[in-house]
Amino acid sequence: MNNKIKIAVFASGSGSNFQSIVDSGHSAYEVVLLVCDRPQAKAIDRAKKAGIDSFVFQPKQYPNKQVFEREIVQHLKEKQVGFIALAGYMRLIGPTLLTEYEGKIINIHPSLLPAFPGKDAVGQALAKQVKVTGVTVHFIDEGMDTGPIIAQEPIYVHNKDTKETLQQKIHQIEHQLYPEVIQDLCLTIGKETIKK
Ligand code: GRF
Repeated sequence: MNNKIKIAVFASGSGSNFQSIVDSGHSAYEVVLLVCDRPQAKAIDRAKKAGIDSFVFQPKQYPNKQVFEREIVQHLKEKQVGFIALAGYMRLIGPTLLTEYEGKIINIHPSLLPAFPGKDAVGQALAKQVKVTGVTVHFIDEGMDTGPIIAQEPIYVHNKDTKETLQQKIHQIEHQLYPEVIQDLCLTIGKETIKK
């Protein structure tokens, strides 16, 4: 019996986190769909190579967020997706998706939230000359990086760190942490499903 939770990963760019979620070898979930809002994103090639279907769309071709999110929901339902991991998806999630997947959407952010929400968190941390930054996994709500925190890991910033070196250290942590958190949450969802 296949009782893995089917998950979708949303990405807009390189998709290195998408890759680590796919490659992790964790057994409680299976990535069945990549949702991507940028047709040139490298994440799409990664999905192809991994044999995972993608739904790629261009937000500008829709009258508003509600309309494209309804289409996303259709694709998610077709694939029986029970859980969503945002991984470098550069958009706020709207009420259509939030209502449909309440408590089942998480995000990874490259700072110790609530410090440095929004874009370029690594650049923001360097500009403030913080000595410690890190990675946060959190639930999604209607705000910008504001939902309840699930896991965090700190990273020391050294004087010689550049945006590239710090980004590299952050990715290293992310690629380990994010699949672990997804695994744990999917195990919990699995148990709840059995109880019902
Ligand atoms: C990651 O650093 C993640 O924390 C942030 O966007 C970046 C995405 O990187 N939300 P990638 O596309 O997974 O390589």
